Amino acid sequence: MIVLGIETSCDETAVALVDADRQILSNLVLSQIADHAAFGGVVPEIAARAHLDHLDSLIHQSLRETGIDFKALSGIAATSGPGLIGGLIVGMMAGKAIAAARNLPFIAVNHLEAHALTPRLTENIPFPYLLLLVSGGHTQLVIAKAVGNYDLLGATRDDAAGECFDKAAKLMGIPFPGGPNLEKAAQCCLDPEQALSRFPLPRPMEGRPGCDFSFSGLKTALRTHTESLRRETDICQKAVADLSFALETTIAQTLGGRCAHAMRIFREKHPEAAPLLVAAGGVAANKTIRAALAQAAKEQGFSVKIPPPALCGDNAVMVAWAGLERLRLDLVSPLDTLPQPRWPLETLKSEKQT
Ligand code: KG4
Ligand code: ZN
Repeated sequence: MIVLGIETSCDETAVALVDADRQILSNLVLSQIADHAAFGGVVPEIAARAHLDHLDSLIHQSLRETGIDFKALSGIAATSGPGLIGGLIVGMMAGKAIAAARNLPFIAVNHLEAHALTPRLTENIPFPYLLLLVSGGHTQLVIAKAVGNYDLLGATRDDAAGECFDKAAKLMGIPFPGGPNLEKAAQCCLDPEQALSRFPLPRPMEGRPGCDFSFSGLKTALRTHTESLRRETDICQKAVADLSFALETTIAQTLGGRCAHAMRIFREKHPEAAPLLVAAGGVAANKTIRAALAQAAKEQGFSVKIPPPALCGDNAVMVAWAGLERLRLDLVSPLDTLPQPRWPLETLKSEKQT
């Protein structure tokens, strides 16, 4: 069983082939960073047009390089939301066209579910598990109970963690893409203790009950620091490195603290389950955050599984795998399925499939 996956929900045009033995046969990702860099963020119309320009040739490249014919495929999976509407339409139309022409099942994949299921591809883990989903638009703690069945424990009340990284980077003049470049800036920090005392930042939601997050206050505090820096000295490299370090540390510790709380809830709700914390999404590529989650898990007696960094950010391997998991359960989608720019993970369980 081989599934072709298509990802076009944001600024990566990606195509992959994955089989039921959990082998990644092809993994092509065309980043549009250069197209958006001048604007300091993703421009939806530019993204959609770039997907349109490159998707067909990526699909052909994927099949050519692996020597796999359309005839060998068992299904076509395309991200159908949440995401930017133009890109979703491009990816879904390509996927549906192949499915219709080749008489193959089409699977409309929820991008968040694709992130959520990636650790089952890389680590073969069983349900249920506790999941921290941290991406550009989402920060959520979820109990993954089965394919299409997710219980939301908490989510951000304002900005997502990735959004906080991106906005902070912009404030500090760190070039797009903000998150990965801010991590690089933080690695230049020479005196961590001094950086933390020079730039005190609030710990959002620390000690509060529940599993919600809030990152907008952090961004406001950061803005105050950058403004005072500008008045003082203009932003110098050391200040950027130190402030990046302070921000990254605060976000990592906040995520670790909220996860510790969620681990206790998970254990109460699922005493029968293996104590397992899983993280997914672009922000989970951050080394400091991975270390903070590992530490929090250790303290709670949980093991932690995070996909390799290349599979944390957007890719089509996760879409092909989610498609394959759904196909095995006969959860296929009709060809008149519409894209859903907003499509919360926890609503999947109430959806009717064909
Ligand atoms: O999952 P993803 O690739 O796309 C969405 O579904 O949103 O996540 C993108 C987010 C962006 O906010 C990006 O800045 C952030 O993940 N990100 C990082 C790192 N790599 C990506 N944030 C911090 N450190 C990183 N190394
Ligand atoms: Zn994503």
